[in-house]
Amino acid sequence: MINVLVTGANGQLALTIKELFYKNGDQINFIFKNKAELDISNHDKVKDFFKSNQLDYCVNCAAFTNVELAETKVEEAFEINAEAVRNLSIACQNTNVVLLHISTDYVFDGKSSKPYKETNQPNPLNVYGKSKLEGEIAVISTLSNYFIVRSSWLYSKYGHNFFKTVIKKIQNGETMNIVNTQIGTPTNCDDLANFIYFLIKTKNDQFGIYHFAPIGQTSWYGFALYIASYFKSNHIKPVETYRSLAKRPKNSVLSNEKIKSLGYDLGKWEDGVKRCLINYTL
Ligand SMILES: NC(=O)c1ccc[n+]([C@@H]2O[C@H](COP(=O)([O-])OP(=O)(O)OC[C@H]3O[C@@H](n4cnc5c(N)ncnc54)[C@H](OP(=O)(O)O)[C@@H]3O)[C@@H](O)[C@H]2O)c1
Repeated sequence: MINVLVTGANGQLALTIKELFYKNGDQINFIFKNKAELDISNHDKVKDFFKSNQLDYCVNCAAFTNVELAETKVEEAFEINAEAVRNLSIACQNTNVVLLHISTDYVFDGKSSKPYKETNQPNPLNVYGKSKLEGEIAVISTLSNYFIVRSSWLYSKYGHNFFKTVIKKIQNGETMNIVNTQIGTPTNCDDLANFIYFLIKTKNDQFGIYHFAPIGQTSWYGFALYIASYFKSNHIKPVETYRSLAKRPKNSVLSNEKIKSLGYDLGKWEDGVKRCLINYTL
């Protein structure tokens, strides 16, 4: 039996992992803990939990993910995205657990015109990205057996995300002005959950940083337009600037070459959106 702790269990990625893999025929036992059950910023609780459970993997889905709010809640963002990740890393190191930590495309400044590779130098523009990069540094400086999986523009039927906001506004007949100058790759949480499961199931030991994004790229406007076309709505208008406290990278497309070199097949981003639309509107 492989025992896998999933932190941040009320978040959209963790809920997707639960929906897809809680029951599985691969002898993988998932233990889901939400913030109330295991606050990863509580060093003693984390230490005790790891000591009293025989874990093989920890999938860290817990994070401070509100990019706008992070600009004013700087301390909190760093506490959860950096200090708490150090706690988890130390606990993993002491109990020989593989840490599978989720990070973000927002560690990059977006100045490149090409998709970002794992070897590219991060240079975050906003507090969220800076705090996530600190978390990555904590993992790398503490552990050898880790995966840092950077993903981008996550959406699902769970929680708050751009995909759901756009659908709600379409259903309310609201017109939306959406920025067309930021390019990235929308990622269905089910795609990322499948990759995480693949790493665990195959007991992959090629540790390190991986960029996970489906094939293709678009702007937030293109993403919204694709959703709107499903509802035959014409309420989406392109704009060049987006009023926001947090600076955002113009290009945060992640290169998926390294993942492909593992023999892992990726689908197109549009296919992920179609699946989520069908699942969401059923
Ligand atoms: N969302 C995106 O577009 C995106 C893009 C790229 C990468 N990522 C990364 O992907 C991962 C999963 O993101 P997500 O979208 O699933 O996030 P999410 O839906 O916001 O879920 C994060 C969860 O973490 C919990 N949490 C916060 N502080 C915690 C603490 N101290 N201890 C335990 N749990 C805590 C939150 O609980 P409360 O709600 O109760 O605070 C929430 O349930 C994160 O690492 C994120 O940085 C996200």
